[in-house]
Amino acid sequence: MQHAEITVPQEELARQAEFARSVKELPHRPESYYVVTYGCQMNAHDSEKIAGMLETMGMVPAEKREEADFVIFNTCCVRENAERRALGNVTWLKEVRKQKPDMVIAVCGCMIQEPGMAEIILRKYKFVDLAFGTANLHRLPELLYETLNSGKQTVQVEDRDVIAEELPIRRLRKDAAYLTIMYGCDNFCSYCIVPYVRGRERSRDPESILREAEGLAASGVKEIMLLGQNVNSYGKGLPGNPTFAGLLKRIDGLGIPRIRFMTSHPKDMSDELIETMAEGKHILPQFHLPVQSGNNEILKKMNRHYTREQYLERVSKLRAAIPGIGLSTDIIVSFPGETEAQFEDTMSLVREVRFDSAFTFIYSPRTGTKAASMEGMIPEAVSAERIQRLIALQEQLQQETLKRFVGREEEILVEGLSRRSRLAVSGKGRHAVSVTVDGNEQDIGRILKCRITNLKNNTLTGERI
Ligand code: 5AD
Ligand code: SF4
Repeated sequence: MQHAEITVPQEELARQAEFARSVKELPHRPESYYVVTYGCQMNAHDSEKIAGMLETMGMVPAEKREEADFVIFNTCCVRENAERRALGNVTWLKEVRKQKPDMVIAVCGCMIQEPGMAEIILRKYKFVDLAFGTANLHRLPELLYETLNSGKQTVQVEDRDVIAEELPIRRLRKDAAYLTIMYGCDNFCSYCIVPYVRGRERSRDPESILREAEGLAASGVKEIMLLGQNVNSYGKGLPGNPTFAGLLKRIDGLGIPRIRFMTSHPKDMSDELIETMAEGKHILPQFHLPVQSGNNEILKKMNRHYTREQYLERVSKLRAAIPGIGLSTDIIVSFPGETEAQFEDTMSLVREVRFDSAFTFIYSPRTGTKAASMEGMIPEAVSAERIQRLIALQEQLQQETLKRFVGREEEILVEGLSRRSRLAVSGKGRHAVSVTVDGNEQDIGRILKCRITNLKNNTLTGERI
């Protein structure tokens, strides 16, 4: 697909801005909003765009969802429980609305993009005023205008792969920002619904990315997180074939103190990227590299296009180039047909690699994916036992891997007050580990130098220098 065809034209964005003004002028428009977000960083960033658009319609954020005039659920469908939780909360709000009858309820995001979901909303969730998919995000002003004007349920889902540049954004944090570099995914891992709901892979133009990054640098942002389902294949289909490593190098030159990115796919992780990280000035020494399984047969059935050995080779290369790098991963247990021995291969990989953290999931069948029609669903009790064993192992290993930080200096970007004490703050170190140090509200958003002094229950604490 040509790039020009997928970028939402300027005229269309201007038309939406016009709708936003029209909503603002409606006599009984919602005055406050609340966005409920599920799922990954991509969704969190989409929610920032939703909030940005709602503010151009004159709305202000509400403290609580039950107090808002307009509540929007930005949903996830990567696992069944994410979906169940969202639908449960949407239904709960229906009850709340009995006390606040003019409340407008909207549902958007990945779940709406699933085949058949629009019909379900029309049939079973009639109290939802507005529903739209990820491809319609930029059309929120128009869709909301229609809903408010007609008083009828509006449901809009399209199968288009678009890039909408320069939407208004209300960022959740001033010190750290998300920056999307690519949308969608072409990998079709057999368990994953993302390619179906987020569409084909499409990369943003490097110059637009650079402009956005420069704007963030000028606003004093201390950290940016480059986002994409598969950042390592950035540039595919763009003129001149830019690479992710090349883009990273350019962004590194802007002087933003901390640069991070996610998510990476082991099959596309190039030596050029490793070298760029090793030579970079501001690229943080951390890497999120989902492995999913430690068994070659399961990796093959997952359609991951790498072997355990190749994964381990990538990890060795990363560690040789960037000693002490913070390494995290995603793991799925109980993929269809996974035997006890195959699960043990995942356990042994975890022992071998020693990740700093691991996000572990029980396989959840997603309608329409290849794996959903595979045989050998693992009984719930077996899955529960496996994931507990895996979590216990990871926690035990983490206690050892985190020891390497004790006695060392780290710079942390303070995210908030510590949950345990009002006299302490916590933030993320350069290696993506959380550290708690003495401090107060004024430190939020600052980069602090500290010496790590203690490790207890997998929590690092330190003292300011
Ligand atoms: N079931 C369980 N986990 C899944 N993930 C993606 N799809 C599924 C599924 N169907 C996990 C993968 C991915 C992470 C974001 O979610 O580990 O890396
Ligand atoms: Fe899903 Fe695989 Fe794409 Fe990640 S790389 S979003 S797991 S299909």
